[in-house]
Amino acid sequence: MKNKILVTGGAGYIGSHTCIALHEAGYDIVVYDNLSNSSREAVRRVSTLIGQSIEFIEGDIRDAELLKQVFTEHQIFGVMHFAGLKAVGESVAKPLLYYNNNVSGTITLLEVMAAANVKNLVFSSSATVYGDPDVLPIDESAKRSCTNPYGQSKLMVEHMLQDLAATDEGWNLIALRYFNPVGAHPSGQIGEDPNDIPNNLMPYISQVAVGKLKKLSIFGNDYATVDGTGVRDFIHVTDLAQGHVAALNYLEQQKGLTKDCSDKESANKNSTIGFLPINLGTGKGTSVLELVTAFSEVSGQDIPYQFSARRAGDIASCYASADKAKDLLNWEAKLSITEMCQDTWRWQSKNPRGYHSA
Ligand code: NAD
Ligand code: UD1
Repeated sequence: MKNKILVTGGAGYIGSHTCIALHEAGYDIVVYDNLSNSSREAVRRVSTLIGQSIEFIEGDIRDAELLKQVFTEHQIFGVMHFAGLKAVGESVAKPLLYYNNNVSGTITLLEVMAAANVKNLVFSSSATVYGDPDVLPIDESAKRSCTNPYGQSKLMVEHMLQDLAATDEGWNLIALRYFNPVGAHPSGQIGEDPNDIPNNLMPYISQVAVGKLKKLSIFGNDYATVDGTGVRDFIHVTDLAQGHVAALNYLEQQKGLTKDCSDKESANKNSTIGFLPINLGTGKGTSVLELVTAFSEVSGQDIPYQFSARRAGDIASCYASADKAKDLLNWEAKLSITEMCQDTWRWQSKNPRGYHSA
């Protein structure tokens, strides 16, 4: 029997790509999502891409009863926990919504997992937990600090996971700290589909390229960087998805399990993982201007831009040390900035209105 993975937030941007990678790696999946920032169309397209229908449950991670039912009806080996709200600006305006959804929701999920004796979790953390880093590249031992409720919610969950691992060594809790996920599945069928005007750089650039938005504002050109614009560690979402599979494989190996063994009793023995934070990045920084230039070349479109003031809360540079992922998970990002732009452009040009284009 294949191990079954519950994918919370599996209809979303990163979750949908990871569902494909999990399926290709031989896992069974159950997607659990309240569709607050995604659509059934994404699930439908993932089903088409993998050639079989996906078990999808429309539900909220704060709904303990429904979650309990899922754990009763399915023999879940572990949870990939993507479900969460992620807009920094909105989190400043609605902090309680973010703490309720991201923190309370995770508490509910962990309680239900504990009751079901399922103690394997891969959590979507973020490089945002490093705040403004003192040293680059950033490794996992760097100090953590956050300045907005979204970041705080990620940090709070990390602290909760640490405390849980310290009290019960049966838990295997891997926090993957993503740097800047971009790109789309090479089919152009699934990708990032922001609800409103995008907050993040890559979807903004691609919407300018496709003519939905007129001009990109580049927030600051006076940073101490290669060209004065911000520098980030952009990582292709399919590389990121493979990083999740690698984390799950590592978890299984540490526990002496194979993919086909889903005996829960033995699964909770010999645990040596506890709480394990791992960066998922490429280790390379790319400036905003460099990304704009690369996208323009790949798409053949003009990307008009203007320089404007720095965005509050932004930092100059942020890129990962990706050594721990390589050493422990035997994983490293493979795809280049050009491939990130090509795949984003394929998705955006085929689906100018995202999943509403269908
Ligand atoms: P997304 O919004 O596309 O996906 C999140 C999914 O979770 C959505 O489908 C949404 O409907 C669902 N969801 C939200 N709250 C829920 C709830 N209470 N119950 C059930 N489902 C719920 O975002 P994404 O970019 O795919 O991000 C996935 C995870 O990775 C998030 O936790 C996010 O904070 C984290 N992350 C994202 C980035 C990024 O740049 N995209 C960077 C670092 C970390
Ligand atoms: C942002 C969030 C971070 C979150 C991450 C991934 C903030 C302050 N930080 O990170 O918490 O984990 O997204 O979701 O929001 N830029 C422009 N013009 C734009 C948009 C962005 O110049 O229209 C610049 C930014 O100033 C930055 C770079 O592009 O230098 C990347 O921005 P963005 O894509 O929003 O990611 P982060 O700021 O790294």
